[in-house]
Amino acid sequence: MLLLTFEGIDGSGKSTQARRLRQFLEEEGHDTLVVREPGGTELSERVRSLLLEPDFNVHPMAELLLFSAARAQLVAERIRPALEAGRIVICDRFYDSTTAYQGAGRGVADPAWLQDFHQRVTEGLTPDRTYLVEVDAATARARRSEDGAPNDRMEAAGDDFYERVADAYDALATSAPERIVRLDGHQPIEVLHEQVKADVVSQLADRGTPLSGTGSSDT
Ligand code: ADP
Ligand code: TYD
Repeated sequence: MLLLTFEGIDGSGKSTQARRLRQFLEEEGHDTLVVREPGGTELSERVRSLLLEPDFNVHPMAELLLFSAARAQLVAERIRPALEAGRIVICDRFYDSTTAYQGAGRGVADPAWLQDFHQRVTEGLTPDRTYLVEVDAATARARRSEDGAPNDRMEAAGDDFYERVADAYDALATSAPERIVRLDGHQPIEVLHEQVKADVVSQLADRGTPLSGTGSSDT
């Protein structure tokens, strides 16, 4: 019924916001599905392992196609059926990540080509709302190291890579202001959550959907 995506560079805090939103929607009794990209299906999780394995040699075009293959499967197997069943789907990353990381970060393809490609991969599915958590590369790096999780292959890239990715997100937000909501990710978690919540509530109101369902949720 509603597809909400979260975007930002690694360590921006977008997974924290996706989790917080899910908690809020669950408390309101909304039927919610939360998925992460790449992942969410058996095939997509296996592709994720290939893509994130440290020190693995992956050609940039192969990287673009593998992230997109994982997405095609996730959309067909889980996202589209959930939307058709009237559920709210929260996706931690979606095709804007490919535009930013593979398009700008790796320099594989230009945004116009990618926009057309993404529509084919998702069979025309566009997020209703995309929350872009913007932080500078140094803040994101500090948050990643506080996290304690080991670095994956993508995170081996330096600050200059993340600056290209952040610039691409900035350009995307400028080109699609009706869909992409910018959030200043340097603010505290709860302040950001209030901003996301206010926007989601207004999106639901626009669709005539009150915050009072009786649904379940899963991952
Ligand atoms: P991402 O999913 O974008 O990689 P996470 O949500 O996993 O980022 O957050 C990375 C780390 O930063 C976590 O330790 C999280 O608790 C912390 N964090 C998230 N949002 C904020 C924030 N607004 N301010 C300070 N720390 C944050
Ligand atoms: P993940 O651990 O989920 O990172 P994060 O917590 O920051 O979301 O790893 C996903 C990595 O894959 C991350 O570095 C971003 C990258 N990625 C792409 O390069 N292209 C894509 O299309 C997607 C979905 C992710």
